Amino acid sequence: MTEASIIDGKGFAAGLRERVSRVAADFEAKAGRKAGLAVVLVGEDPASQVYVRNKNKQTVACGMNSFEHKLPVETPEADLLALVEKLNADPAVDGILVQLPLPSHMNEQKVIATINPDKDVDGFHVVNVGRLATGLPGFVPCTPLGCVMLLKDKLGSLSGLDAVVIGRSNIVGKPMAQLLLAESCTVTIAHSRTRDLPAVVRRADIVVAAVGRAEMVKGDWIKPGATVIDVGINRLPPAEGETKGKLVGDVDFASASQVAGAITPVPGGVGPMTIAVLLRNTVVAAHRNAGIGLDENAI
Ligand code: GUN
Repeated sequence: MTEASIIDGKGFAAGLRERVSRVAADFEAKAGRKAGLAVVLVGEDPASQVYVRNKNKQTVACGMNSFEHKLPVETPEADLLALVEKLNADPAVDGILVQLPLPSHMNEQKVIATINPDKDVDGFHVVNVGRLATGLPGFVPCTPLGCVMLLKDKLGSLSGLDAVVIGRSNIVGKPMAQLLLAESCTVTIAHSRTRDLPAVVRRADIVVAAVGRAEMVKGDWIKPGATVIDVGINRLPPAEGETKGKLVGDVDFASASQVAGAITPVPGGVGPMTIAVLLRNTVVAAHRNAGIGLDENAI
């Protein structure tokens, strides 16, 4: 069996950030101001702190303004809602991202519902979920949009292909299925209650794994030549002599890469795409909200 080709998400994301930088510079020249992204972090979850720091750094590196708002974990929900309202009304803010998860005393759906859908660069607001489902222009969640970009870059047209998405989260699984449907794939959403998951996955030309279970998808589940997109980021327990465990995906890379036609690695596959797409969505939001024309498909 030949080895799968490795889908270079890290390289693709770097190219996307370059295109975003050019479009952001063009926006600044036309609008007389930089595009701006506001990122709100409540509490001190270490993983969220790392994500938010990277988002801010990459936003500035692409020539856009980053407005960081850090709130203590005990912040009342009403204060967060008031901040979101203030950002909705701020003309310097084109995109708003409230880092999830929020502390347990806050209602995430209520917070997301307060964001102006036209500044919702995460694509989590029900208006954007509905726009995606009905084929209207809106904002699409960053991770699944990044996965479709990688798939189209590798395969060209996805029309007629059998796609199996494993996982049904609002952030990845469900929007991923909608995007693949819009590309004319035949889409199956599998999840923890799916019967005979290996047999379902074996039918797929495209497998998207987004379940959060380390190395769950095995090589003998994969149809020879299929394209495998691994959204999982899981840390294994440290082996002897290691201080930190190895990062692995939801796919058993060693066996799957012997069968697949193409596969994303972990790290360096889907991971770097999420922030790059967030920056893309932000510069798109800036153009739309300022009424400046843009060929969005060219980014
Ligand atoms: N937490 C984990 N992923 C995401 C994301 O894409 N957006 C937000 N806002 N929070 C997250």
